[in-house]
Amino acid sequence: MSSKLIATKFAMQGYNVHPSVIEILKSQPEKNIDRIVSEVCKIAGNSFIITPEDVSPVLEMLKAKEVRKLKEEIKPGKPLPQRCDVSLIKDITGGSCCEGSVDDFVLYFNSRYEKLASIISQQRNFFPVNIADVRKRKSEKVRVVGLIVGKRESMNGNAIIELEDRTGRITVIATGKLKEEADELLGDETIGVEGFLRGRSLIADRIILPDVPVNGKKNKKDFNMVFISDTHFGSNTFLHEEWNTFVKWLNCEVGNEKSIKLAERVKYVIIAGDIVDGVGVYPGQDRELEIIDINGQYEEAAMQIAKMPDRVRIIISPGNHDAVRQAEPQPALPKEFASLFPKNVMHVGNPSMLDVEGVKLLIYHGRSIDDLVMKIPRLEYERPHQAMIEMLRRRHLAPLYGNRTLIAPEREDYLVVDDIPDILHCGHVHTYGTAYYRGIFLVNSSCWQSQTEFQKKVNLNPIPGNVTVYQPGGEPIRLNFYSA
Ligand SMILES: [Fe+2]
Repeated sequence: MSSKLIATKFAMQGYNVHPSVIEILKSQPEKNIDRIVSEVCKIAGNSFIITPEDVSPVLEMLKAKEVRKLKEEIKPGKPLPQRCDVSLIKDITGGSCCEGSVDDFVLYFNSRYEKLASIISQQRNFFPVNIADVRKRKSEKVRVVGLIVGKRESMNGNAIIELEDRTGRITVIATGKLKEEADELLGDETIGVEGFLRGRSLIADRIILPDVPVNGKKNKKDFNMVFISDTHFGSNTFLHEEWNTFVKWLNCEVGNEKSIKLAERVKYVIIAGDIVDGVGVYPGQDRELEIIDINGQYEEAAMQIAKMPDRVRIIISPGNHDAVRQAEPQPALPKEFASLFPKNVMHVGNPSMLDVEGVKLLIYHGRSIDDLVMKIPRLEYERPHQAMIEMLRRRHLAPLYGNRTLIAPEREDYLVVDDIPDILHCGHVHTYGTAYYRGIFLVNSSCWQSQTEFQKKVNLNPIPGNVTVYQPGGEPIRLNFYSA
């Protein structure tokens, strides 16, 4: 509705209206405007100008009514129109047992080391020896597996890596081309090294990352999955118009014949975290919120998600803006928020591995992309799939410890990629990228908010409103709902 028409409606009731109120009301559905004007005027009393403070209680009241109506419409146990076959293979929800003690950290790092060392040791023709036994094999090629406990550059430009296993420690020297590979090691990884002894050091011929084996091509499934992320409901930079068009497309109400055909086949929508903008996530965030309390944000999220068709199963995992613990692995949203959402929503942890009709789907919000981009100069936020490849090469979703990605010392490391996925879905960086790596489909699926003040300060240019439609076994299709 135009600004002029909104101002006229208030003028007819004898009130002037502040320009910021008009901006707020322009994002409201047109059918609600008359009611909002009438309710606001009822409580405005002798005010001369209608301000945002007069409008916000009315908007809150209308939203609460809408949520109640939706909850009544969504009857518990209502059967889904399509048979969905999704099972959770692994996530932390309900299984956390760490308290952050020294013992917890020891167990965590042991789990991390054992899992990754075992993956490397099982590689073909790689038969590692204990580091303590290396010197018994002076004339042979030596293969070891260890945790990197230190890395530096020598005076003559070689990489010096301190490697440790349960039996001892050895200095590894990487020269020439191998030095470039060594430069990309992050410092907390478990690696394999093949080389020969010179003095007390091991001169590397090859550095072996755990990596993933080639995942063979799969048969095409007869359904589409839609990947989105970082909806940030509650933010004042949330893209209402773009989101509404996306939901209409999902309901087959807009789009050309080809895109409607795509929408008709959508059976799953996967959301990789940052469902809401949260509260107090970064300094000054309160100035960038449209909904200032966390309950209101999740009510809004539930209401928006409920606009998606019933035939679609929606899978939601949290991110660093959501109301769960910040340290990874994060459990699914707590009941008080999860219960607001319709029954066709499945809440899972971050990360989580699922079996979706035979397709192994690994969802991870992607906080560690910040660390990877910071540490490896060739990686860029504009191409987030590159960082996702590095996660798979290291078989770990957050390979760097102690930087931006907070990690809870669980007794088992849930962030190790033990099981090979068919799809890895991330978000977090608000940019867009897809790729195949060794047969695994990688997707980082954009966001639904424009650039925030915080992002301007850190020079992060989002690529919002981009959606990936993917038929497992086929090629991904990118739909752009962002109109700016
Ligand atoms: Fe986000």
